[in-house]
Amino acid sequence: MSKDKVLGSKQYKLSELDLKDLSSDPFTQFDRWFSEVLKSDEKFPNAMVLSTADSDGIPSSRIVLLKGYDESGYSFYTNCNSKKGREIASNPHVSLCFWWSLLEMQVRIDGKVELLSEKITDEYFKTRPRESQIGAWISDQSEVLDNRESLEKKFNDFEKKKKGEEISRPSFWNGYKVAPTLFEFWQGRDNRLHDRFRYLLIDSKKWKIDRLYP
Ligand SMILES: Cc1cc2nc3c(=O)[nH]c(=O)nc-3n(C[C@H](O)[C@H](O)[C@H](O)COP(=O)(O)O)c2cc1C
Repeated sequence: MSKDKVLGSKQYKLSELDLKDLSSDPFTQFDRWFSEVLKSDEKFPNAMVLSTADSDGIPSSRIVLLKGYDESGYSFYTNCNSKKGREIASNPHVSLCFWWSLLEMQVRIDGKVELLSEKITDEYFKTRPRESQIGAWISDQSEVLDNRESLEKKFNDFEKKKKGEEISRPSFWNGYKVAPTLFEFWQGRDNRLHDRFRYLLIDSKKWKIDRLYP
């Protein structure tokens, strides 16, 4: 396929978003959109870009999976010694971004990260496939790895050592929750005149809604 074809201009025609259709509560609005996405053929509906910044403000982004949400926040799990884990420890302000291409929708969520309780994290860890539990133990996430063979050897050795035993959660593998202070809902529209609505938390419970220029 030619590069021009891939990078060429595309129109967004699927839907539109108006103030009258929005919930006054961004959590409800997210829930409505997420329910729609779950009904679509989107392959990874819960994949979100997590952007963190180090203590000097230098940003980095990667995908993580949304594993739960409620009025208190949006949760994901990772290794707290990883690059993102270290950045969160020095700067808890993060940004999440979902792109649901089949519905031409984007949601941004900015907020502060908190650790999930050990109880919730342990419970979730128990539900993971055994291979993923082993993976959590043997991966020094974000560190330099000499070769693929060392990783597989670590995996096989750990598996042998723990044969028949329950695998508990490593203390360096944690759950995090983003408590939002800003949401933005973006619906693609024709001629790049997209619909954008931002919810800003102006006191602890009140959200101010504004339409933004695309
Ligand atoms: C679809 C997808 C889902 C992912 N889910 C997670 C996840 O839930 N947790 C995680 O730690 N890494 C996940 N990753 C891997 C991260 O993108 C990243 O490579 C890893 O966490 C290391 O990031 P860091 O070095 O910036 O800390 C996922 C990657 C993809 C592509």
